[in-house]
Amino acid sequence: MTIRLGDIAPDFTADTTQGRISFHQWLGESWGVLFSHPKDFTPVCTTELGYVARIKPEFDKRNVKVIGLSVDPVDSHVKWEADIAETQGTPVNFPMIGDSDRKVSDLYGMIHPNANDTLTVRSVFVVGPDKKVKLSITYPASTGRNFDEILRVIDSLQLTAKHKVATPANWKHGDDVIIGSAVSDDEAKQLFPQGWKTVKSYLRVLPQPK
Ligand code: BEZ
Repeated sequence: MTIRLGDIAPDFTADTTQGRISFHQWLGESWGVLFSHPKDFTPVCTTELGYVARIKPEFDKRNVKVIGLSVDPVDSHVKWEADIAETQGTPVNFPMIGDSDRKVSDLYGMIHPNANDTLTVRSVFVVGPDKKVKLSITYPASTGRNFDEILRVIDSLQLTAKHKVATPANWKHGDDVIIGSAVSDDEAKQLFPQGWKTVKSYLRVLPQPK
């Protein structure tokens, strides 16, 4: 199944390392990050899960719940978590879905058969409080993800959900932003009375709104 931005994130019920969850109910009013890794007890995945555990306070600050997944069963995840805590310095502090029957992987198109016909690729889905998919990215098994980039995108998503702005290349929280192209100058005067800098008629820049 192809999941596109703006689609409702498919709901599911699954066993996790923190008990059985119903995805939408578990998300509640929060944002969510659902991410898959190819296989337990593998090196790149070990570093990824350790890093996500380490920066979980950053997700918490942004009201984002994080949940991992692979096609290994929950008891395998639990055994592997001891290695992650030992080698990465932080215990895994978010649930991991055991998807042995590939129910969730298939629902989210996390198995790419021409890459590997049994293991999940490194998928990331960011879901908004409205349960809609806001970001979807896919990395190959050989490349560990940059989870700081996921936080950066969440900052942009949360800002642009609140204000009629867009964020430029390599933007990070606190940098200048761009007035959305659908906003006329007249509307911009109402929205941003402090003014902005017109670089081109289609490129209007202003400090990040509070
Ligand atoms: C890894 O996490 O290191 C890995 C997992 C599956 C395939 C290749 C690498």
